[in-house]
Amino acid sequence: MKGAITKRWWHNCVVYQIYPRSFNDSNGDGLGDIQGIINKLDHIQALGANIIWLSPVNQSPMDDNGYDISDYYKIAPEYGTMDDMELLIVEAKKRDIKILMDLVVNHTSDEHPWFVESKSSLDNPKRDWYIWKDPKPDGSEPNNWESFFTPKAWELDAASKQYYLHLFSKKQPDLNWANPEVRAAIHDVLHFWLKKGIGGFRMDVINMIGKPSDFPDATIFDEGVAGWEHWANNLLCHQYLREIDEKVLSHYDVMTVAETPFTTTLDGRYYSHPDRHEVSMIFHFEHMSIDREEHNAVRKPFDLVEYKEIMTRWQNDLYQKGWNSLYWSNHDQPRTVSRFGSDCKEYRSISAKMLGTLTHMMSGTPYVYQGEEIGMTNKIFTDISQFNDLMAKFHYQKILASGRSAQQAIDFLNYFSRDHARLPMQWDNGINAGFTTGTPWLALNNNQAVVNAQAEREDENSIFHYYRKLIALRKSALYGEVITYGQYQLLDQDDADVYAYQRSYNGKTLLIICNFTQQSLTRHYNGEIKQLILNNYQNNPRALSSLSLAPYQALILDISDK
Ligand code: NOJ
Repeated sequence: MKGAITKRWWHNCVVYQIYPRSFNDSNGDGLGDIQGIINKLDHIQALGANIIWLSPVNQSPMDDNGYDISDYYKIAPEYGTMDDMELLIVEAKKRDIKILMDLVVNHTSDEHPWFVESKSSLDNPKRDWYIWKDPKPDGSEPNNWESFFTPKAWELDAASKQYYLHLFSKKQPDLNWANPEVRAAIHDVLHFWLKKGIGGFRMDVINMIGKPSDFPDATIFDEGVAGWEHWANNLLCHQYLREIDEKVLSHYDVMTVAETPFTTTLDGRYYSHPDRHEVSMIFHFEHMSIDREEHNAVRKPFDLVEYKEIMTRWQNDLYQKGWNSLYWSNHDQPRTVSRFGSDCKEYRSISAKMLGTLTHMMSGTPYVYQGEEIGMTNKIFTDISQFNDLMAKFHYQKILASGRSAQQAIDFLNYFSRDHARLPMQWDNGINAGFTTGTPWLALNNNQAVVNAQAEREDENSIFHYYRKLIALRKSALYGEVITYGQYQLLDQDDADVYAYQRSYNGKTLLIICNFTQQSLTRHYNGEIKQLILNNYQNNPRALSSLSLAPYQALILDISDK
């Protein structure tokens, strides 16, 4: 194909994300750990995923559960040792699994020695490693930027009478990427880990590393986080990424995925087109905002037509011009099946399979978040004291301040909170779902009698085995190419209940049909069914001209002419 992007090893890979704190505890302290991950590698191998994205395991005071690193060269003692980490890389490799580390370098912990030094005096050599500014003449913050976790993005240091910038919690000061010494120190961190044999990085909020030198006030749009038009996706960020590629990544054969809120498909191309030498792919958030207005902590109804428009735009705009990542969930999102499907007894399994089908048949690299493959669900919290996440606590206060009641705040968090995804993984129907023999750091959902990995693996009709088949298809001789490289075409864009699309490549055409409702429906499509590839029901669809769809039914059909 003219101008086609070069094929890369990660194009047909599937990534499994582990949130170490909640995955598997090997020593009974109530926290997941690296040895616990090693003990469960067979689960990931059986699923067929061949990359693990490991949320941070570096030393950290854990203000944001590891996204506040105090030493990039050390492993958090509660998760294990460097020997454990090296063993994990080796054991994963034996199973053909690569490890992606989480690179959290927009900010460090305030307990990182770099920040401790930086804060110690105005003339400390590391002062300029972070972003320090004088107050405005009235003593207020240098500008009106907001933070994701606090109302203001600036914290005053009483001793030096200057503010430092923190786009996240005040324990996560932003590094000053304009300083070449900082960039060189980060390049060293990357080399250190790549030399240990990891397969690449997931780069935490990496599109925020470029800060404009004049720190202008933000326009208040009442959306996003005030200031984002200045620090998200700017030219500096692209320059810094290209420098990382030149100095580090181009010397290894690795994959990178950049976490990039506030991105359009045009940004997506700039970041991920191979000729730009920036990153392999990005996580955009357009579809994650579809049912919420985050700035005002308000929930919106899910609209399938809007969802199709978003996904279709990303599928088409990046086709042969970049690379997509495909995800429904991660450690920052509520559980997929509760959010977009149904977690009631009758439909949990069937709707989880339908949702998996939709993303896994698209163009890009799919991500499975721990527990998604067994259909883990949201929990019902009743009181703010039950939440761990600092963002949940921030939203709770924000909702109360807006005049809504405590119950309304809990209702919002029951839908929105990041804690849902962070509940311990449910391995079996035993005590603490097999996650720990101790006291779990976050109380379980307690539905392990119905939702657990052991039962899923033993039942050949389970979500786990359905996901295994989806993943195997992407690598199969028969359908791998069309799933990985096929052109995408949306059908019936205004159908508010069914998402149907085709993928075509080299004379092969697949038709993917997903019923998003609890109703039985009839639909009409062109073409003939040559082969039923996968179905989340046991029935046999006959003719496309009058196709009956059961609640949440998903079909993958080969409708090639030849
Ligand atoms: C994005 C991460 O996914 C999230 O968990 C974290 O709180 C922020 N970045 C800050 O590092």
